[in-house]
Amino acid sequence: MSMTDTKPPADPPESTGAKHPFHITKEEERQLRLQGAQAVPSLVIGQATSFDEYARQLMIPPAVMDLARKAEDLRLSAWEIEALRHHLAPGEPGRKMGLLRRILHAKQGDDVSHPPYIRVACSGRGHYDELATKHGHLDSKDLPEGDIGSPVVLEIWPAQHYSPIHSHGHTTGIVFCLAGQLDVMVYEHLDWNATKLGLLTLTPGQCAWLSKDTYAVHRVFCPMNGGDGTTGPGYMNSTDEFGASFHVYLNPEGTAVEHHDGDSNSRDSFDYIDEDGKDQRHFATHSDLSWSILRRVLANTPLT
Ligand SMILES: [Fe+2]
Repeated sequence: MSMTDTKPPADPPESTGAKHPFHITKEEERQLRLQGAQAVPSLVIGQATSFDEYARQLMIPPAVMDLARKAEDLRLSAWEIEALRHHLAPGEPGRKMGLLRRILHAKQGDDVSHPPYIRVACSGRGHYDELATKHGHLDSKDLPEGDIGSPVVLEIWPAQHYSPIHSHGHTTGIVFCLAGQLDVMVYEHLDWNATKLGLLTLTPGQCAWLSKDTYAVHRVFCPMNGGDGTTGPGYMNSTDEFGASFHVYLNPEGTAVEHHDGDSNSRDSFDYIDEDGKDQRHFATHSDLSWSILRRVLANTPLT
């Protein structure tokens, strides 16, 4: 540019709103965090420290409070976090690839529209359970039996990876942060252009929630250091950092309040917005791994 050229510099990428995963400017992010902190009912379950916060907490449904109360003491231990990092670390020459990184690569091949994350079924079995024995992480062949879906799921979010915008339909549930950090953007309804209701960051011990009528549509993102490159479709991080969350989703018949409006919308599937076509799709919520397998793999992992 010459000294006489008065044209303003091009907007940085973030001010165009095109930045993944939330497509918002810094100023919009600030506003959405304020909105999230003031949302009614409260987006996060917690002990009120002011009268108005108490009123926002009071409006959270009793079925949700019950789920949150039962989860409040859950944590991953330091050695479990260390072993998870070991299995998420990017592959290096001469080092065996970790089980979780292997699953991320398998999932990336199936869907390049958003960076993959891992769903671990706390009951039943997972789609990739066999990889644990196939690649020598476990000797035993006694793989769990049962359903591939689970009402209780541990989700592992590699740094800078994220979900599509998706709806939990008619379920009632919680998103309880166990490790790292997770950003949750909540939307008014399931549409690429839906109004954003608020943005929050969960840290360990904090719990977000949803029900059929409230906060059922969201997108989850791990904002931690992912290493080289910029996140987006096809991205795969290059660090071992991660966030972890514990999810419980009760079907309508599992809560005290039932909605008899004829729609079948259980935790066995959810609707989401495809990142490429911006159109609505349907996804069967299978789990990638079972906790009984992962727990044994973590226990067998040598840590330095
Ligand atoms: Fe979700």
